[in-house]
Amino acid sequence: MPTVIILGANAGIGRALAAEFASHHYDLILSGRDREELVMVAADLSLRHKVSARPLTADIGKTEVLQSAMEECLNAAGEALEGFVLCAGYLGNPETAKKDLSEVRRILEINFTGSVLALEIAAKHFEQKRRGFICALSSVAGDRGRQSNYLYGSAKGGLTTYLQGLRNRLYRSGVHVITIKPGFVDTRMVFGKGKGPLTASPERAATDIFRAIKKHKDVVYVPWFWRIIMLVVRKIPESVFKRLRM
Ligand SMILES: NC(=O)c1ccc[n+]([C@@H]2O[C@H](COP(=O)([O-])OP(=O)(O)OC[C@H]3O[C@@H](n4cnc5c(N)ncnc54)[C@H](OP(=O)(O)O)[C@@H]3O)[C@@H](O)[C@H]2O)c1
Repeated sequence: MPTVIILGANAGIGRALAAEFASHHYDLILSGRDREELVMVAADLSLRHKVSARPLTADIGKTEVLQSAMEECLNAAGEALEGFVLCAGYLGNPETAKKDLSEVRRILEINFTGSVLALEIAAKHFEQKRRGFICALSSVAGDRGRQSNYLYGSAKGGLTTYLQGLRNRLYRSGVHVITIKPGFVDTRMVFGKGKGPLTASPERAATDIFRAIKKHKDVVYVPWFWRIIMLVVRKIPESVFKRLRM
């Protein structure tokens, strides 16, 4: 059976995506910080879908041990490895960040530096195999800087640009790189921000992401209508945009 590694599989979109892959008969390496939760998710999915699901610990904020954690995941998957999906992310608290530089650092480290390091390790592995896919969850927040979340947005914008370059680098190796840009997805990340008509369930997001991977898409907005919304948002002249409360 093909195997996929999901980093950030214990919660939210990553957890829903693990279930989506399991329902399509993929074996899973479920990676993240919360080992207890990963063990439960793995037991549930392997029982429900008759797949192998192995929980392994990885923290993208601990860059000194990230290489060994990633290598453990890649080795555990072995020859059957088909892809790596990075679902880890941290919205952070913009108000705390105004007073505390360590929150600024954390937002940038999780969403950019740690994410890129994990992706670089995966990229080297897939480049040698000369096949497979790498998928990472960026955000619509990276499409334009807004006062309410520009630290998170700038890290995701950087991640989007990184993925663009990685896609270009790996194209000739036959490795496909997919950038996912979710809008609002109903996970604990947006808890308390209200559920509007634009908010998607994690399951809907997971279905869209799985389909994007299977169809070898490059950049996908989740759900699709965020492509149009962000097209409009990007078109607003800067002289107008800077006056808006967004
Ligand atoms: N929900 C949205 O509306 C939305 C919109 C745009 C983009 N996204 C992106 O989609 C991805 C998934 O987010 P989500 O909505 O599913 O949020 P979530 O429920 O908060 O899940 C975030 C995941 O990232 C993991 N994570 C955080 N810091 C980590 C670290 N240092 N090392 C390893 N894993 C870490 C979390 O693990 P812990 O449980 O250990 O913290 C959790 O598994 C993120 O990249 C997010 O930025 C989400």
